Amino acid sequence: MTINILFIGDIVGQPGLDIVQMYLPSLQKKYRIDVTIANGENASDGKGCTEKEAKPLFDLGVHAITGGNHTWDKHQSQEYLKAEPRAIRPLNYPKGTFGNGYVLVNSPKGKIAVLNLQGRAFMSPIDCPFRAADWVLPKLKQETKVVIVDMHAEATAEKLALANYLDGKVTAVIGTHTHIQTSDERIFPNGTGYITDCGMTGPYDSVIGMKTDAAINRFIYQTPQKYQTAAGNVHLTAVYLKVDLETGKTVEIERIFIPEFDKNSS
Ligand SMILES: [Fe+2]
Ligand SMILES: [Fe+2]
Repeated sequence: MTINILFIGDIVGQPGLDIVQMYLPSLQKKYRIDVTIANGENASDGKGCTEKEAKPLFDLGVHAITGGNHTWDKHQSQEYLKAEPRAIRPLNYPKGTFGNGYVLVNSPKGKIAVLNLQGRAFMSPIDCPFRAADWVLPKLKQETKVVIVDMHAEATAEKLALANYLDGKVTAVIGTHTHIQTSDERIFPNGTGYITDCGMTGPYDSVIGMKTDAAINRFIYQTPQKYQTAAGNVHLTAVYLKVDLETGKTVEIERIFIPEFDKNSS
């Protein structure tokens, strides 16, 4: 038996939430989705994910919301992790950090695990994501053969290295964080599905989701700027996985990139 899984790339602010609202029901129908996962580290106006953004996603049938470095930007987002086990953050933050690094999802077809990891190259020097995976996988494998990893990382090489390291040990490694979808989706020899970055679900008339002026000034002046979520040219990015429930291997992977509905066309 197979199970169909949809993973939605970093949702940025209200524009990202709106396009998910617009297209998720039809995607779930088209691909006969059993489990939906979304990266929500930027859902709350670019900064984390609070109950306000998570509730409509859960109402749409999202089973798990993963996080990343921006999960910590808002106090409410941190607090939310304590209360909602379906919202997770990268596992390899230091012991004692709020929240959980994985969640088990019960679907009518069976249980799956969603694991969130974060890279360290050009990012905060947190614990090793490779060792964190080694530690947690035996525990998850007692529950299910299907383990979907959100690898939230800046460096392509670190994501590829982790995917090769985990080939045959997890169902898929889906890269997030860079907000630019890569066209390298594939299945590794031992059955692990992979994409370097799932992409951004949000406004593309921007610098990775934020208004361009502040982003440009940050690079020119090398000083902090007030970021605001941009608005135009919204896209939804996702990856579809067909997975063999008995083996936990990915048998099909497809990259999805949907432009916003053109409100001006008839
Ligand atoms: Fe992000
Ligand atoms: Fe990020």
